[in-house]
Amino acid sequence: MRLPLYKNVTVEEIRLISRSARLRRLENADFNPFMLHSKDIAIDLLTDSGTGALSKPQRSAKEKGDNTYCGSTSWRNLELAARRVLGFPYVIPVAQGRVAEHVADFVMIKKGSIVPGNAHFDTTKANIEVMGGIPVDCTISEAYATEPLFPFKGNIDLEKLEMILKKNSRRIPYVLTTVTCNQVGGQPVSMENIKETSGLCKKYGVRFFLDIARFAENAYFIKKREKGFSRRGIAGIAKEMLSHAEGAMMSAKKDALNQTGGLILLRDEDLYLKLQPYGVLFSGGIQYGAMSGEAMETLAVGLGEGVQDRYVEQRISQAEYLGKLFRNIKVPFLEPIGGHGIFVNAGVWLPHIPWDHFPGHALNCALYLSDAIRAVEVGSLLENRDPKTRQNRRAHWELLRLAIPHRLYDERHLDYVAEAFQRLSTKRSSICGVEFIYETYPMRHFTSKFKLV
Ligand SMILES: Cc1ncc(COP(=O)(O)O)c(C=O)c1O
Repeated sequence: MRLPLYKNVTVEEIRLISRSARLRRLENADFNPFMLHSKDIAIDLLTDSGTGALSKPQRSAKEKGDNTYCGSTSWRNLELAARRVLGFPYVIPVAQGRVAEHVADFVMIKKGSIVPGNAHFDTTKANIEVMGGIPVDCTISEAYATEPLFPFKGNIDLEKLEMILKKNSRRIPYVLTTVTCNQVGGQPVSMENIKETSGLCKKYGVRFFLDIARFAENAYFIKKREKGFSRRGIAGIAKEMLSHAEGAMMSAKKDALNQTGGLILLRDEDLYLKLQPYGVLFSGGIQYGAMSGEAMETLAVGLGEGVQDRYVEQRISQAEYLGKLFRNIKVPFLEPIGGHGIFVNAGVWLPHIPWDHFPGHALNCALYLSDAIRAVEVGSLLENRDPKTRQNRRAHWELLRLAIPHRLYDERHLDYVAEAFQRLSTKRSSICGVEFIYETYPMRHFTSKFKLV
């Protein structure tokens, strides 16, 4: 048996409320699990974003939090750590990843701009669209195929990208590669693909950006799956990945192991000077974004802890563990296993639910009702409507993402999750789809209301 990487220093009790209470909670939440209260949830796999446990060094760093409005020591510590770990000279602090996107898009996107990339994350896509831009998905076709073994399903299709660059380079403010690519199952992007995308962008005079919410996990997969990296450390591989980009947008709530925060990272001083005032306007001062001194201190430490080989290996091994349990009980999920969790193929597991009755969301409600577990739909509900035609966009898959928070759960929690799926397995055909009774725009999955159909 592998020695666990952590012992528990602070603990929080898990309580299981009764099935009838869960049904009432779900009804009160209008069948939208985003609306549930944390005390009513036993295992929360909604997201790995800001939900992890802090380490002792992070907790003690909090004590150093300096909340001076300008020129705080905490900002200085964070800026130095970001430069050291991520390798960009210019750093703009913001509230979180979507604010980094909004600040960058506000400056760079005009009506009709095109932003090619591998499958854009939901906030990324919405931020581009509200500025009048058009996100274009250039992910390789293997990403959407069910045969499992392609190792870098997050890669960009370089031929497709070049065609778009050739025709439209003036309309493209930047190309965006998301590492790992959340929307196709947390799948990684190879170093070769990052390098070649960067080369194409240079050839056509277009900026190349990375979305680095889960950059350490991506570096881990490069180490494990790409030739020539097996002896390298994750920190070095991550820095090499980033060295190919002119800029990056970061949610600090995932691989940087923080509870909040985000960064915009740049090499170009002119662009930095253009973006900086909008960082102030939309997020907060140039030396805190919207982060408290305490949050900047924990982030400075988290950036370093998040790229430690032992840690990233342990993290990915949890997703692999859950995947193995699911294989044993024949729950279909996307393979190979991505970085931050398991993406159950609800469309395949619940074939009686039509795509526009959102099988992933229906499974989420059923899972909560049966065992007080919460996850999140990644499918046609998340895809939203086409901004022009207002038609529902159909996703490639109807998934339920079980995201594993950083350092929060151990294998026993994952055993409980697999057992819940096993119990549900025999009752699958009785799970109902859902329909809107109230639909919001944008980001409808967070705030809409549903009924069972
Ligand atoms: C790939 C990716 N980019 C951007 C974001 C947005 O970051 P935040 O939640 O910090 O706003 C997320 C959040 O989950 C993400 O997964």
